[in-house]
Amino acid sequence: MAKASTENYSFDQKHLLGLADYSREDILYVLDQAKSFREILDRPVPKIPTLRDKTIVNLFYENSTRTRLSFELAQKRMGADVVNFSASTSSTKKGESLKDTIQNISSMKIDMVVCRHESPGVPHFLTQCVDAAILNAGDGAHEHPTQALLDMFTMQQIHPSLDGKKVAIIGDISHSRVVRSNIIGLTKVGAKVVICGPKTFMPKFVEDMGAEISYNLEETLSWCDVAMALRIQLERQGKSTELFPSLREYHDLFGIKMKHLEKYPDFKIMHPGPINRGVELQSEVADSERAVILDQVTNGVAVRMAVLYLLSGGIRI
Ligand code: CP
Repeated sequence: MAKASTENYSFDQKHLLGLADYSREDILYVLDQAKSFREILDRPVPKIPTLRDKTIVNLFYENSTRTRLSFELAQKRMGADVVNFSASTSSTKKGESLKDTIQNISSMKIDMVVCRHESPGVPHFLTQCVDAAILNAGDGAHEHPTQALLDMFTMQQIHPSLDGKKVAIIGDISHSRVVRSNIIGLTKVGAKVVICGPKTFMPKFVEDMGAEISYNLEETLSWCDVAMALRIQLERQGKSTELFPSLREYHDLFGIKMKHLEKYPDFKIMHPGPINRGVELQSEVADSERAVILDQVTNGVAVRMAVLYLLSGGIRI
């Protein structure tokens, strides 16, 4: 398979299982390629035939709006044949195993698999079952690499070099695959990362991965260039009262509010979605000009086009 390359660098990845497997150069190369695809999205006809000989299956065992639709749009913008698998309407409901499912789908001659699953490690397992390129669209609380890439791409639109930039990630850290991929990616490209949230949400891995911890929202917002709020994942932790007393108390202590935007005029607001309005962000904050949340969504299509292009080993655009 031909790989994209520059004079001194060759992108040589077959899969995207997590940013832990990607070097700083790989990450910066994907982000650089995504710029070309972002420009294509602004054309009157935002289509290129780069993947017209490829067949891609989107294998989603867990709910998604942004990731699933933007992968599908990216694939269709590039001319791929696309099939969508949803566990809730498949023979998984009759007891078919993941291995049997993917091997049957692979027998239909597919080139790439985009997989979201509630269990960490499933994308890696798929690489052992089939020859297709595997792209992780979120596996449990492990990684969500394309989300972190689109987050970094959006930060680059504000600050072209992320080296030394100050990124705060605030919220439900212990249940978040987004935070893991962002810490890995951002520290590889030289950004400083502070993780802020209640002690009950703060896992040990944060400091081991090179980020700092803060339990003080005001201090964190006064420091950062970008503040990314993360969703409180009530579905992963059972009752909210297990980890903090109430959503109202969480919002009082860690929700970003209009008063913060007035007091600290420089930082931008990001959120991977879906937002719990009135919990992580005051609703007016999510709709304010300081928020780049919908830019993140638009950029997600471009970043996923870049990843699909690079992992397909295709010709340069
Ligand atoms: N950010 C994100 O992964 O959103 P979805 O769950 O809607 O795909």
